Amino acid sequence: MRVIVCENYDEVSKEAAKIVASEVILKPNAVLGLATGSTPVGMYKLLAEMNKNGEIDFKDVKSFNLDEYYPMSADNDQSYRYFMNENLFNHINIDINNTHVLNGLAKDPEKECADFDKMIDEAGGIDLQVLGIGQNGHIAFNEPDSFLYANTHITDLTESTINANARFFEKIEDVPTQALTMGIASILKAKRIIILATGSSKKEVINDLINGEISTNNPASMLKVHKDVILICDKEAYDK
Ligand code: GLP
Repeated sequence: MRVIVCENYDEVSKEAAKIVASEVILKPNAVLGLATGSTPVGMYKLLAEMNKNGEIDFKDVKSFNLDEYYPMSADNDQSYRYFMNENLFNHINIDINNTHVLNGLAKDPEKECADFDKMIDEAGGIDLQVLGIGQNGHIAFNEPDSFLYANTHITDLTESTINANARFFEKIEDVPTQALTMGIASILKAKRIIILATGSSKKEVINDLINGEISTNNPASMLKVHKDVILICDKEAYDK
């Protein structure tokens, strides 16, 4: 895993945006794997600016998002579909029909997940996957456990994740306790992966990611088996 340590959040956003932009320039019909959470917001802002300036074109780009709360309606302002529209899709020239976010109201969640994996395969697989990381090491919504799922699946959220994500909701009781999420193999199948981490709340987990062993108790550590992963973090998250 290559590690890029940046001065601050803005520099992390710039580094990440450069990599995503290069991917789209080199492959105009690139398939991007996208993440939510507060960390990639700065990167999305820069990508929108680059698109506006004519530096990058999203016309033929396809995207697949990592996860969605369950149950959750797409028009709920806490949904990840809403987040993506607000933070990126509404500001770039991507065809909204080429953006894929799991349906948080799917009647048959298992089928929704299997169809999602099939759609990714049919699109030729993900060229570049953007990831954030939870304070407990979760990537997408693959939570620390004694085992991990390979494919896209429905999962229960841990108390730690519910607490961490409560900041986006009015009250903690409003945070959904389940989600649909890409699995570890779905993520590892991406040709290239960048993982972003900023702020001191990520210090412990980033230290464990860099120096610790591969373990299902830190799902992000599974990234160590992938041949093309770049961790981009700020000084606060990187504790030598
Ligand atoms: C959520 C998402 C993850 C994301 C994580 C970190 O739980 N499911 O994909 O990486 O939050 O969020 P933040 O970037 O706000 O710390």
